[in-house]
Amino acid sequence: MKPFAFLTRKRNVSLDCLHTLMESAIDGIITMDCKGRIIAFNPAAEKIFGYSCDEVIGHTVAEKLIPRSLRKAHEKGLDHFLATGKKVIIGQRVEVTAKRADQSLFTAELEVIADNSKTTPLFFAYLRDISGQKHAARESQQRTIEIKKALMQTILAISRIVEIRDPYTADHQRRVAHLAATIAESLKFSEERIDGVFLGALIHDIGKIAVPTEILARPGILLDEDIRYLQIHCQKGYEILEPVNFPWPLAEIALQHHEHVDGSGYPQGLRKGEILLESRIVGVADVVESLTAHRPYRPAYSLEEALELISKRAGKWYDRQVVTICKELFKSGYSIDTIDMDELTWRSSLE
Ligand SMILES: [Fe+2]
Repeated sequence: MKPFAFLTRKRNVSLDCLHTLMESAIDGIITMDCKGRIIAFNPAAEKIFGYSCDEVIGHTVAEKLIPRSLRKAHEKGLDHFLATGKKVIIGQRVEVTAKRADQSLFTAELEVIADNSKTTPLFFAYLRDISGQKHAARESQQRTIEIKKALMQTILAISRIVEIRDPYTADHQRRVAHLAATIAESLKFSEERIDGVFLGALIHDIGKIAVPTEILARPGILLDEDIRYLQIHCQKGYEILEPVNFPWPLAEIALQHHEHVDGSGYPQGLRKGEILLESRIVGVADVVESLTAHRPYRPAYSLEEALELISKRAGKWYDRQVVTICKELFKSGYSIDTIDMDELTWRSSLE
């Protein structure tokens, strides 16, 4: 037996294993030298890129597999690693854009490892085509957005039912929704939570469909009895919305938007901490919008008068912080008169 035959045999077994692994791997495996030249290209890589092994061996990765716009960055990264040994991408799993033989581009997941040799380093790139997954994820996201849009449009349609029955408050809920969502934005709410404020405001008076039209449409000052009847709209709104499993507290907003922080509101006489912040925001937006709108039984308040009124009651009826934010908004140029009704689906979470 030749000396070292055992080791030689052992090494051959390892090389055979390595070859089998590369040949049968699901991922594309590309071996490159320090110049970025391809020295091995497994069958999975052939399938992914549409090149035969012979068509790429000896060519650089940049020339064959990387889009022209990304070549400079690739070459710079390779030079940087060879000069400094610092691994920026090497060893990391990253998403890249790669180019097929037919010049089409696709998204791939890539991990490059370098061998330990300092004299003749080799690079092994493991690559997987994830363009199908990406496409499916985009489609799923688009479907989610469409469903959310349809939900918002449905809520808008419901809000119009109230406006049809209540001619004096046409557009009221939509204007309140815009102001309330703008206050929520200023309070740095998350996009999701702003959506909740917007939609809650959009249907905060839905319970008015339970109030007789002759009361809603009666000109002149309302009788005490009418007012008592009108006040049931909070509870009725809650009863309408509560069975629906919205991802936002829309039923609570409808129920609580006439509560006061000192407990003097209705229907439950809740105090500050017991009232959702969303409801306190809608409550302030509701009163500002109502006061500045004309009613048959009273002229419209000026904006200054309306803001003065909510200031006087800040901390008593209305949340002090919400009042401050509301006043700052108008002071910095926000105008409730310039609302574009086409903006109703303007919420950025739908873009
Ligand atoms: Fe109301």
